[in-house]
Parts: sequence; C-alpha cells; structure tokens
Amino acid sequence: MSNSTETGETVLIKNALLYGEGEPTDVLLDDGLVAAIGADAAKSAAAETEVIDAAGQILLPGFVDLHTHLREPGREDTETIDSGSAAAALGGYTAVFAMANTSPVADSVVVTDHVWRRGQEVGLVDVHPVGAVTVGLAGKQLAEMATMAAGSGRVRMFSDDGHCVYDPLLMRRALEYSSSLGVLIAQHAEEPRLTVGAVAHEGPTAARLGLAGWPRAAEESIVARDALLARDAGARVHICHASTAGTVELVKWARGQGISITAEVTPHHLLLDDSRLETYDAVNKVNPPLREASDVAALRAGLAEGVIDCVATDHAPHAEQDKCCEFAAARPGMLGLETALSIVAMTMVRPGLLDWRGVARVMSERPAEIVGLDDQGRPIAVGEPANLVLVDPDAEWTVHGPALASVASNTPYESMTLPARVTTTILRGRVTARNGDVRTPVRSGGGQ
Ligand code: DOR
Ligand code: ZN
Repeated sequence: MSNSTETGETVLIKNALLYGEGEPTDVLLDDGLVAAIGADAAKSAAAETEVIDAAGQILLPGFVDLHTHLREPGREDTETIDSGSAAAALGGYTAVFAMANTSPVADSVVVTDHVWRRGQEVGLVDVHPVGAVTVGLAGKQLAEMATMAAGSGRVRMFSDDGHCVYDPLLMRRALEYSSSLGVLIAQHAEEPRLTVGAVAHEGPTAARLGLAGWPRAAEESIVARDALLARDAGARVHICHASTAGTVELVKWARGQGISITAEVTPHHLLLDDSRLETYDAVNKVNPPLREASDVAALRAGLAEGVIDCVATDHAPHAEQDKCCEFAAARPGMLGLETALSIVAMTMVRPGLLDWRGVARVMSERPAEIVGLDDQGRPIAVGEPANLVLVDPDAEWTVHGPALASVASNTPYESMTLPARVTTTILRGRVTARNGDVRTPVRSGGGQ
C-alpha cells in the first residue's frame, strides 16, 4: 500500500513519552518504518534528518476514523477529499473511512476507486472508501459489494450510513455475503417508521421545545435485530454512532452470547446532551440526536470498559444555508476530525476513564482491527509502519469554525477552549501535519 512517489524522509522524534508512559525516549523513522527506539535512535540518525522536539508530548499510533463524510463527489462546496484529508491529518488521523452517501452514491467501483485514488494523490491520509450496501442507499437492492471489494480501492466496509438498512431480509443477505467477502457491514441503526419527522431526541427537552422526537427504541430495536441476524448468519456487524445507554447494554448482551458485534461512539455523543437544543441552533442537530446526560454517562462508561470498541467522528460537513435555518429544516451532522482528540481528552482522559494507552486503543488499534487494516494501529516498535501522532496533553486551544481546514465550519464547539492538541501527524514516516499546518507530499514522479 506504500506510495512509491513519496520521498524517503528520515525523522528523529526526541524525548517523546510513548503512550504517555515511562521515560522520554527518542524514536527514529526511516523509509516509512520505525527504525530505532531509545539511545540508538539519535546515534543512527543521518545528517539531513528532520528533528522534532517532542518534550512533554505523547507518541501514539496514528488515529483511524471508521466514519467520515468527505462529500466528494457531489457536495464539494462543503468538503473535498483534499480539504477533508487536511482536516484528518491535523486531527492526528492516518486513515479514514469515507462514507458512501455522496452524489453519486458510492455504490459502484467507479466511485469507490475514485475516492481511494484521489486520497492517495492528496497523500495526507489513507482515504478508504466505504461502499453502499444497497443501490442508491435506497434499501431495495444489494449493491455490487464483491466488485467494489475487488476494486483498486479495495472496499473493506459497507454501509448505507445516513440511512438504515431496515429491510431485515436485505440486511440478512448483506451479512451473509459479507462473511464470504471478508468485509464489514456497518449499520446506521434507525428504525425509519419510528423516526418519521423526528429532529431531536424524544424526551422532556424536545417536548418542551416543540421538536418532534427520535425515540431511543428506534436505535435499540435495530441493534437488537441486527445482533440476532449476525448471530444466525455467523457474520460480524458494526454499529455506527451508538447513542443510548440501551445500545451499550444490548452490545454487551450480544457479546456475552458470542455474537460478533462491534460499536463506535462519536466524540459529540461523549460530550454533548440535548440541553444544547435550548437555543434552537441547528449546529447541534445530528443523527442520531444528542441524547440525555444519563446516555452520555453510559457511553463514556461503555467506552472505558471496552463494550463500545472505538471512537469514530461521524465528521459531517454541511453548508451554511443547510445549517443556519429553521431547526426542523436543517441537515443533521457536525464537523469532528480536528476536534476528536481534544473531546476524548476532555471526556475520557481528564476524568480518569481512559489513560493514553486507552486512547491508542479506542482511536487507533481497535478501529484498525475491526476493519482489518494491517498497517495501522500497530504497536510503536522497531520495524513497524511509521503511522504516528504526537499529542501535547497540556495544550489548550480555542475552536473557531472558519479556521478549521474543512470547507464547511459547522462545529458545535465554536469558541470553546479545549484541552490537548495534536502537534504532529506522520504517515508512513512522512510528516503530514505539524503545529497546525499540513504538509503535502513532494512528488518525484509527476503524481499518479
Ligand atoms: O448527522 C448525521 N449526518 N448523521 C448521519 O447519519 C449522516 C450524516 C451526514 O451525512 O450528514
Ligand atoms: Zn449515520
């Protein structure tokens, strides 16, 4: 998978705390790999080596996002593979999975191959295409999963995200095929009959504000159903953006039954609850909706315990006219790539629910394992691919939407001061982001 047009850089990271543990250590990267760790690293560094002073910073494996919306093709006015890759690199990501709800939909190898190739051309992060489960995300007919899986973009994950594959027979068939293809089906769990017209979590807040409610049961009934379908198909199912305490319980139960089920949680569901809706600002509108404080607590506990496997951003750029309008008419979704690490630090690390090794597990190792990436989420060890991120745990920064790399600026964290910041991201030994700037690759062969 390595990109042959990249220049072979050597980088010496000095005085980093690996996984935030032990004593500061030097790490030498050469030819895309970790070449040396410890006292040997500086000794073996060549004269032209770039030296990064990482004193006080934590070295982790590069983050892997299983759930990103990059909007190319079709809505390049809100995000492109170029701008989304920059946001990903600045957020510490070395691989992202780009959801299929583009226009045209990524239900054919033409689109999925484009997404992969364009990501490689940009060269800031591996952009893995997610293929649609059904043609046009319409939920009627299975898409050609095998062709997409065999394309140059090698689709490893299929999802109708934005829509639920709600026909149980179609979901059953998709799960059956997924096992033989060795791919993952990721479900946006939303029983559509229970969410007709819904714009907010069904509860006291929505009732008071006069907003139509999205009940927890709409998510949980699909999670339970799909767990049973996965059991019978002997297949794996992945639950996108778990948002309720009940989903955590169901995933735990299913795993206890030996069912192969994994789940992700978004940073926003770890921090925000439906009290944010009081202002009717549609920047807080998202699917699934922001729930109640008790759900937030259960999601944090589920992530800490490993019931919820990983954090995935559901980065969802939207144009100003689609957000700055009446709440019911606004599109759901919020930016997430550049703020994810800070929100995880705020909600999980600061309260003592996860240490930095735990952050590596939920933001890098587990997502890479879930989707079968063998070059990501690897231990920081000699001979391993140099996909890495440096985090300053003591930094604080104030979010300003227009200053983010995304084309759109719909962040729910506007003007908030957040803890911890990614300082450096490294993809196959090459620095892709450093102190807030992205570094596009220098190409020797005139591009691909
Ligand atoms: O809030 C959301 N936005 N949830 C989804 O499932 C889809 C996403 C989007 O594409 O904007
Ligand atoms: Zn979704």
